[in-house]
Amino acid sequence: MNAANKGILIAIEGIDGTGKSTQVGLLARYLRGKGCEVIETREPTGGPYGRRIRELFVDRGSCTLEEELNLFIEDRRQHVREVIAPALERGLIVLTDRYYFSTAAYQGAAGMNPAEVFARNSFAPRPDLVILLTMSPEISLVRIRESRGEELNDFEQEDQLRRVAELFSSFDDPCIRSIDADASLEHVAREIQKAVDRLLLDNNYVCTGRRTV
Ligand code: TMP
Repeated sequence: MNAANKGILIAIEGIDGTGKSTQVGLLARYLRGKGCEVIETREPTGGPYGRRIRELFVDRGSCTLEEELNLFIEDRRQHVREVIAPALERGLIVLTDRYYFSTAAYQGAAGMNPAEVFARNSFAPRPDLVILLTMSPEISLVRIRESRGEELNDFEQEDQLRRVAELFSSFDDPCIRSIDADASLEHVAREIQKAVDRLLLDNNYVCTGRRTV
């Protein structure tokens, strides 16, 4: 088990349109079915910083890159303090849809130094596993347009997304497990389940709760 906490922290990362949110839901259901107690959460959060961040989706130019980075970091600080750390302390499994790898990739693609972004996130507990869903930016853009029937937000412009994808692939961290998200939903879900089963086994993590479906 991660020496710093009693629970298990799993982050699902990747560019927009890779199906992260769906996979978080499927993984949570799978784990609950095994009797695990699971918290599903996401970033940006619904808190005050997260709300300000969502305003930027339609008008990214309304603040500087440094201010934008600060918002993501303050949002995470609050998320860690109020949700992630208490759940880990209780020994639960926390699934977060995006975490600090997104900040290094997205704000890195916008011009910040990814290494500095990682350094500024050192307050955040290290995840036990990062599932990185990979997909070509071209396909992800088609999916975003089709599934949401909406125009791209200011964080999803094509060149930008390409740089984000490149940065995500460049991160060399032993906790990252890349999974090709071009495959079917079910196949991707099974690959994620295998990686998580292995993680729980390696950590001697036993789900003791009542099994639910
Ligand atoms: P979402 O679509 O997964 O809710 O994410 C919202 C957008 O925020 C997405 O385009 C990626 C972006 N983002 C960052 O730029 N930096 C971050 O640290 C996080 C968590 C998200």
